[in-house]
Amino acid sequence: MKTARVIPLVQQRPAGPLLPEHSPGTFADAAGLVRDQMARPLRDLRISVTDRCNFRCSYCMPKEVFDQHHRYLPQSDLLSFEEITRVAARFVELGVRKIRLTGGEPLLRRGIETLVAQLAALRTPQGEVLDLTLTTNGALLSRKAQALRDAGLQRITVSLDGLDDAVFRSMNDVDFPVAEVLQGIDAAVAAGLGPIKVNMVVKKGCNEGQILPMAQHFKGTGVALRFIEYMDVGSTNGWRMDEVLPSSEVLALLRSAHVLHPVAGTHSGETAERFVHAGALGQADATLGEIGLISSVTRAFCADCNRARLSTDGRLFLCLFASQGIDLRALLRQGASNEALRQAVASAWYGRDDRYSELRSQLPTAHAPSGQRIEMSYIGG
Ligand code: GTP
Ligand code: 5AD
Ligand code: SF4
Ligand code: SF4
Repeated sequence: MKTARVIPLVQQRPAGPLLPEHSPGTFADAAGLVRDQMARPLRDLRISVTDRCNFRCSYCMPKEVFDQHHRYLPQSDLLSFEEITRVAARFVELGVRKIRLTGGEPLLRRGIETLVAQLAALRTPQGEVLDLTLTTNGALLSRKAQALRDAGLQRITVSLDGLDDAVFRSMNDVDFPVAEVLQGIDAAVAAGLGPIKVNMVVKKGCNEGQILPMAQHFKGTGVALRFIEYMDVGSTNGWRMDEVLPSSEVLALLRSAHVLHPVAGTHSGETAERFVHAGALGQADATLGEIGLISSVTRAFCADCNRARLSTDGRLFLCLFASQGIDLRALLRQGASNEALRQAVASAWYGRDDRYSELRSQLPTAHAPSGQRIEMSYIGG
């Protein structure tokens, strides 16, 4: 009998909210930090603040699906800024040191600066500030950069899938001009929102011709450029393996025009393999800027994945490819104490065994079935 080649999407945990089932302290190590079933700590919290976006990138929010009939979350379903900050504080108690605001497009959330200010006021148990950052498509950045900086945002990442105006307009699929995003990046530089990163999703047949122009453009600017393999996230983008340009090929192309030196990773849980440009004598020259390759499809980085995700409506997702989240909003709105919230998060993290990208790359076929997997626009990148 032929064995069905199915990529496992079902998580090995019960449906519905996971409530604490261990006594306090069970989940934490000697330093008070929580670790999951693969001993991975909880370090990075990505908070989606809206499920809306003003772009329609085909790999994320294809126009045909996210059209005028699409039902976005009603305002009352969204976590308020106070709710977000209260939950985020519990994550920080459990080990989170980096918070990234995402969406959808986070700059569409009204008053986002207020949330930034609230999160910027959080401190680790040792009294340190957090690494507070935000991922944006850059469309509203030239207007918002200074206010974000003033509110306490430290740095920013801009998604940009090409430099050629026609290619960029077709990638965002709303005819948005590339010049305005570039102005946004300039505004972020001027506001001191560095180190700035630019993320380019490479989709074969669409924008691979932009790899070399992007590398040339950002070389020497201080902006780190990262190339991301197109992923099978969500269930609406019609992902196909033959549209993925493996990072190995991106690197070969880059090396046809630039001398690049690998850089050792600086911390556990890094998504990107990093390189720096060489100077005139061939030596690594960090001032010329950095290039990163994010290879979730061909080189999974689950082994030290320390990222948790909080959706716009307050569900905790333990993996980008999860289909279920833990309803923290229900706990919040039922009047749960901080201790109960912390326990709910700790318990969920403790039970975590997700490693979707690793499992995918071990399987003979890389064509994932569609299902109820959550969309990246809802959970954040
Ligand atoms: P920095 O702290 O700025 O280096 O950010 P980061 O390395 O966490 O990366 P960023 O948030 O810029 O994410 C870049 C891209 O990597 C995302 O848009 C996703 O495409 C991919 N990515 C990030 N985190 C994960 C993850 O946990 N799993 C998978 N499969 N892909 C991820
Ligand atoms: N594959 C890879 N990255 C994606 N993103 C969204 N959808 C995908 C996908 N299918 C990421 C991009 C974008 C960020 C908001 O989310 O990096 O910059
Ligand atoms: Fe919007 Fe970013 Fe998704 Fe593009 S990738 S549709 S800019 S959220
Ligand atoms: Fe982490 Fe899941 Fe991404 Fe693996 S696939 S790196 S476990 S979010």
